[in-house]
Amino acid sequence: MQGKRTMNGLAVRWLRAAALAAVAACGAWTALAEENSPPPRTDGALLPRDSTDAAVFRGGLVYANYCVTCHGINADGNGRAARLHNPRPANLRASDKNDAYIGLIVRRGGEALGRAPGMPPWGEELTDEQINDVTAFVRSVNGQHR
Ligand code: HEC
Repeated sequence: MQGKRTMNGLAVRWLRAAALAAVAACGAWTALAEENSPPPRTDGALLPRDSTDAAVFRGGLVYANYCVTCHGINADGNGRAARLHNPRPANLRASDKNDAYIGLIVRRGGEALGRAPGMPPWGEELTDEQINDVTAFVRSVNGQHR
């Protein structure tokens, strides 16, 4: 029961993110379609840029692009490619690691930290902002707050 509730919570989070993305895309499209459209408004943004929510939202997009195949849509380590890995991709919802460690393993990969090479290094691929954002996302789906 407990597991089911949290999974639903995560599904809701994804749906909300998808809905926000759709709204944002429509807004961008309307702005593009309008000739002489006024400069973009900075007040009343969907999510304040410096908020944790905004970082989690951006990090969700990074996660969906770079992590979901292994770590899975529920971040429980059961992605489509998970069975190709031994050890399996970590269950990020149960991770006991702090943000600094998460940032480090994302940047340098498993092998550099004496872990499995199945966890690729993303330091060449992702910007510092993307790594911070995906760390915020992992934190948001993870029970432990630190
Ligand atoms: C190709 C498969 C694969 C992809 C893609 C991948 N990972 Fe991993 N990841 C792994 C594996 C396998 C491990 C487990 C390594 C071990 O246990 O030695 C792991 C471990 C981790 C850990 C350690 C968790 C802990 O509690 O120790 C974190 C954090 C992590 N991955 C985050 C990410 C993030 C964020 C992304 C996307 C940027 C990502 N991974 C993409 C396979 C992958």
